[in-house]
Amino acid sequence: DFFRGATKPLFGKTVLVTAGPTIEKIDPVRFLSNRSSGKMGFAIADEAAKMGAKVVLVTSVDNLKAPHGAEVVKAESAADMYEAVMGRYKEADIIIKSAAVADYTPVNVLDKKMKKQPGNIVLELKRTKDILKELGEKADKPFLVGFAAETDNLEKYALDKLERKRADMIVANDVSRQGAGFAGDTNIVTIFKRDGSKRELPLLSKHETAREILREICNEIEKDGG
Ligand code: CTP
Ligand code: CA
Repeated sequence: DFFRGATKPLFGKTVLVTAGPTIEKIDPVRFLSNRSSGKMGFAIADEAAKMGAKVVLVTSVDNLKAPHGAEVVKAESAADMYEAVMGRYKEADIIIKSAAVADYTPVNVLDKKMKKQPGNIVLELKRTKDILKELGEKADKPFLVGFAAETDNLEKYALDKLERKRADMIVANDVSRQGAGFAGDTNIVTIFKRDGSKRELPLLSKHETAREILREICNEIEKDGG
């Protein structure tokens, strides 16, 4: 009905959100990761729930509060996240991949702590699977939103990711800008869409940014006829 549509525009939709860094084990006490905090993804999950969506949150992060009623799926490594997302993508109407997924993971995970030796060592890494790219190749793909955290050439890289991953939307931020970094509570993003349009948002809280991103998604989905 009208009221529900106005205040709960995502009612009846399932939104799968990935958030935070991945953790790639080297040995039982060491890992490779990145500076993502998960705050942007958790803000998206929270705002999507407020807009009436059923939320599935796939994340390694356990120090942030997931929205009430969300299904939280713990995924530590890029491989864990791949399994979690691929196992659930069919349930989702919208997938928002705000997680910072490792591009490389150690070839060997030692089961005992590595002991230091004189001299340098080389850690051999292999490529991980690109989850968003694989989703983009599915015939029954949901509405796909990728993130791009860049330090230079923002537009060029964002448009390249939109194309290469066949996403419907890329949310890009220049993490070298003050107020747009990983750990803070604010962000400055530009939204790139399939039709070639872009929308630059000002410095906003991550929650306000999340609302704007979700509004854009709702508009796009409505255009496609729900
Ligand atoms: N992504 C993913 N699986 C990966 C790597 C990235 O699903 N193995 C997703 C991210 O969650 C994000 C989008 O792809 O939504 C863009 O991630 P990004 O790291 O910016 O893109 P890459 O293709 O890995 O390119 P690069 O790191 O070289 O900029
Ligand atoms: Ca990457």
